[in-house]
Amino acid sequence: MPSATFTFPAGFMWGTATAAFQVEGHNAPSNWTHWVDEPGRIIQSMKPGLACDWWGGRWKEDLDRAVETGQNAHRLSVDWARIQPGPDRWDNDALDYYRQILRGVVERGMTPMVTLHHFVDPLWFSEQGGWTHPDAPRQFVAYVRKTVEALQEYVSLWVTINEPNIYYFNGYITGEFPPGRKGDVSSVYSVLCNMVRGHAGAYRVIHEIQQRARVGIAHHHRPLLPARGWLPLDSLVATLGQTAMNAFPDALDKGQVNILWKRTRIPEAAHTMDFIGLNYYSMSEVAFILDSSRQFYTQRYPVGAELSVTGFMANIPAGMFQALKWAHRFNLPIFITENGIEDVNDALRPRYMIQHLHQVWKSINYNWQIKGYFHWSLIDNFEWERGWTQRFGLWGLDIETQARQRRSSVDIYSEICRTNSISTEMVLKYAPSLIEILFPG
Ligand code: IFM
Repeated sequence: MPSATFTFPAGFMWGTATAAFQVEGHNAPSNWTHWVDEPGRIIQSMKPGLACDWWGGRWKEDLDRAVETGQNAHRLSVDWARIQPGPDRWDNDALDYYRQILRGVVERGMTPMVTLHHFVDPLWFSEQGGWTHPDAPRQFVAYVRKTVEALQEYVSLWVTINEPNIYYFNGYITGEFPPGRKGDVSSVYSVLCNMVRGHAGAYRVIHEIQQRARVGIAHHHRPLLPARGWLPLDSLVATLGQTAMNAFPDALDKGQVNILWKRTRIPEAAHTMDFIGLNYYSMSEVAFILDSSRQFYTQRYPVGAELSVTGFMANIPAGMFQALKWAHRFNLPIFITENGIEDVNDALRPRYMIQHLHQVWKSINYNWQIKGYFHWSLIDNFEWERGWTQRFGLWGLDIETQARQRRSSVDIYSEICRTNSISTEMVLKYAPSLIEILFPG
């Protein structure tokens, strides 16, 4: 059997990612606190409750776990709803607490990456129409100014908006996220345009405050393949779906939003990414169906794909390579800002993690500028409309007792982070079924 070591570049960033609403607990009034209280919105009416109790201080022990196991970076988000509880009100105590957390990240020797918007809008903002409101970009930029001024001492790596495409697709097409609208295509378009304007304004404000800042987005990219390669209609829905899904980063590249026949010039948005963050989980096949209420397509995983516990994701590492190839087109530094799998028993995660990181390593060898990887997630957390039914953490969480359970994937990730590499020995130890796949011959 060949023995090999796949080494990552010196200075590669290794971390995990979390988001405020999902880990903090006792969340401030927002579109999401309102949503979880509405009957039928969350599986089994589950509530975030204390979540991982980060607002109560347990961020300290979790960040200790991260650094003790070799991570040198952490991506977290701050909650707009906490920081700006009313249109003219700022909560300086909340900002101070975020300063404490970020000082904690830095003091542990980790580089923080901070996301300014991760699905959550303050309640007052959503009540006025959320991102469909014409004043939304200006309001977002005011919040970004206040927050970046307060946190700049500790942070220079900023993500303005996490997964805008998931925010507007789930909020206005499937209705699984607030405000729960279904098939509201025209609102999707105004949310998209306003988010592009908000990002562009935020980009300028952050650079005005902080010369050394690097500003990007965390884009959810899911490669879509036609389910029946011989059927032009499947190819058409795959192409249209992909264009719609990537409209946000494309707009930041070109200064123009473009979906189907709709086109809006937003010139101030052009070239407003210093890096591109990529959230990759799975790739899918799409098939045309004659049903306008479902936007004329269905989505599925390829037959025989290895599925996660609830079937929500599939282990398709080749999709990571496709996603990175797509991201490379922007000719910018790339961070994998999220990648992971729901797996309460940690049965698939070891293979999923190693295979996806192998694709990252392969992509680096194509000289694509990949600078870091953030596994989703450090610890089990509140998974939006799917509540606590999906467990993405390297550490498990008992929500009754707040006890953490170390999953064996911690050991794998730790060895990878510490050695900055993946070796035959590691694969033999943690995922022997991959030996022939990763080290053929
Ligand atoms: O938990 C989410 C995260 O908030 C955004 N990206 C996908 C993750 C897993 O579904």
